[in-house]
Amino acid sequence: MTDFENLLNNYRDQVNKSLQEVLPSEGSLITEAMRYSVLNGGKRLRPILVYLSSDLSHCDQKSRDFSACAVELIHCYSLIHDDLPSMDNDDLRRGKPTCHIKFDEATAILAGDALQPLAFELICEINIKEETKTVILSKLASASGFSGMVGGQVKDIQMNYEATVEELDVMHFQKTGRLIQTSLEIGGLLSNLEEENIKLLNLYGEKIGLAFQIQDDIIDIESPASLSGKNQGSDIVQNKITYPSVVGVDESKSKAHKLAEEAKEILVPLSEKADNLRFLADYVVTRNN
Ligand code: IPE
Ligand code: IPE
Ligand code: MG
Ligand code: MG
Ligand code: MG
Repeated sequence: MTDFENLLNNYRDQVNKSLQEVLPSEGSLITEAMRYSVLNGGKRLRPILVYLSSDLSHCDQKSRDFSACAVELIHCYSLIHDDLPSMDNDDLRRGKPTCHIKFDEATAILAGDALQPLAFELICEINIKEETKTVILSKLASASGFSGMVGGQVKDIQMNYEATVEELDVMHFQKTGRLIQTSLEIGGLLSNLEEENIKLLNLYGEKIGLAFQIQDDIIDIESPASLSGKNQGSDIVQNKITYPSVVGVDESKSKAHKLAEEAKEILVPLSEKADNLRFLADYVVTRNN
């Protein structure tokens, strides 16, 4: 295992431990559904981004952990709702029955609903300058809402015509890219990076966020459920407009790799401090799950 792979595993363990602690555990139906849908594996990419970008300088551990949990909670809520019958109608997530299959649809909707504000509660609890906290809250809200993840999901369900690559880029960036980009910016804000460096994280995040969703579309075609933990070909069954459906698999792969290269180029001013973010850009477009 490379040092970078080790680091990813360590950060996964770290956020998993924190998630165990921050999730309610009173054993009611709703808290069981919340715990089920968060503590079920997952690559933990968004928390890892918080850790890697806050590694560029110094910040206290609790701020990192709570922020890492917050972005993962938003992500897990989006996955529960994404799998619902009225959305992608999927029954497999992270190798296990989706929340609405394991529980029921109403519980799944409500579990997602409950994870979202918990994310904001966690940010409120971290010990940083009030001004920085407000910026983080605002960025996370915007990335999650109508101009971010929710807006992208709306486009995803409405896009049933032959879309242009430009339209596809906007949808992918909104539904997936924004939260990825914001996770990086949050790490930068936590460790008090200078504005110009936060801007670099923003630009890098835009590239890898889009690349991440293109690779997700490729995985839908190429990775068996045993690897991805999701039903292979779900997008095809549902006639989804995806990168491969618009430009083909080969061009999708070259676009993803090109974006990763451009992302690494953006990090040049950060010199060797940003090496792990460079490795991460390659990981995003070579992963098979
Ligand atoms: C899947 O996200 C949904 C997208 C936004 C593409 P991930 O591929 O990060 O899923 P997990 O968290 O590892 O299960
Ligand atoms: C999901 O995109 C984006 C979200 C905001 C959850 P997909 O629908 O392609 O994600 P998967 O493939 O089901 O994980
Ligand atoms: Mg979807
Ligand atoms: Mg889906
Ligand atoms: Mg997908």
